[in-house]
Amino acid sequence: MVNTLLNRIRQDLSARAGSIVVLTGAGISAESGIPTFRGPEGYWTVGSREYRPEEMATFRMYRSHPSAVWQWYLFRRTICQKAQPNAAHHALVDLEKKLENRFLLITQNVDGLHIRAGNSLKRIYQIHGNINYMRCGAACTDKIYMIPDSIKEREKNEPLCERDHDALRCPVCGNSARPHVLWFDEYYDEQRYRVNSSIKAAANADVLLSVGTSGATNLPIQIVSIAAQRGALLIDVNPNSNPFSEIAESSGGSFLKGKAGQILPELVEIIGNSQS
Ligand code: OAD
Repeated sequence: MVNTLLNRIRQDLSARAGSIVVLTGAGISAESGIPTFRGPEGYWTVGSREYRPEEMATFRMYRSHPSAVWQWYLFRRTICQKAQPNAAHHALVDLEKKLENRFLLITQNVDGLHIRAGNSLKRIYQIHGNINYMRCGAACTDKIYMIPDSIKEREKNEPLCERDHDALRCPVCGNSARPHVLWFDEYYDEQRYRVNSSIKAAANADVLLSVGTSGATNLPIQIVSIAAQRGALLIDVNPNSNPFSEIAESSGGSFLKGKAGQILPELVEIIGNSQS
């Protein structure tokens, strides 16, 4: 089935010489061992209560339980740092090398694995931020800062000590810093999360490749819908059908059902060859 679809994609691509936008979600990092956002591993206990990621990842939770939120993020950051980019991440590096300015990567992932694999910062929009960075919790400045090296790997539920709190401060005003990620009770903006640039890229995309996303967040839904309306060729890669696979199929594109690490290397080769 996948082979038949790959042959069809080969033909579909022959008339497409414009920009190729790749939209990735947590599924592309699943084979690197990073749990997906809505998978079963995301729960977190604070005091006597269990919280879902949708409750932990909020400004409201940060305001009421800043240490618990930092513990959660520092543990997640440890998982991300221990993980290695997989074949799907590497395939996207090859695609960027081949397409250069015709390539753009829009990622919902905060794990930084695309950058570690070798995609260039100027062609990645990290629309939900990056777990390796922090910024002022009181928003005194727009600057973002790498989380200091003194913050080492964390065990699950390892409490923060005084030194950690001191390291996790805004270097400008001294207030507590916060993780540089978009929370569920916050809005996308251009400066931090590239919302306008992403929409513009979607409107100009000739091909939109979505990989490993459940299509549950606002900006990705807009990106795929706009690209479809403008006549882009949509290709979705996911082991499970999802809103984006349905849009791809109903707009004349393709749904490649399977794991990103297995499908992307071959798909990227086909895209690359069709563009030479
Ligand atoms: P989800 O966890 O919602 O969905 C992961 C998707 O990956 C699912 O559709 C899985 O079927 C698919 N998947 C699993 N394993 C895969 C594999 N090996 N190859 C390809 N796909 C695979 O993650 P996202 O759609 O990325 O946002 O949504 C995550 C966002 O939701 C986060 O960025 C977060 C949350 O809203 C914010 O915090 C603002």
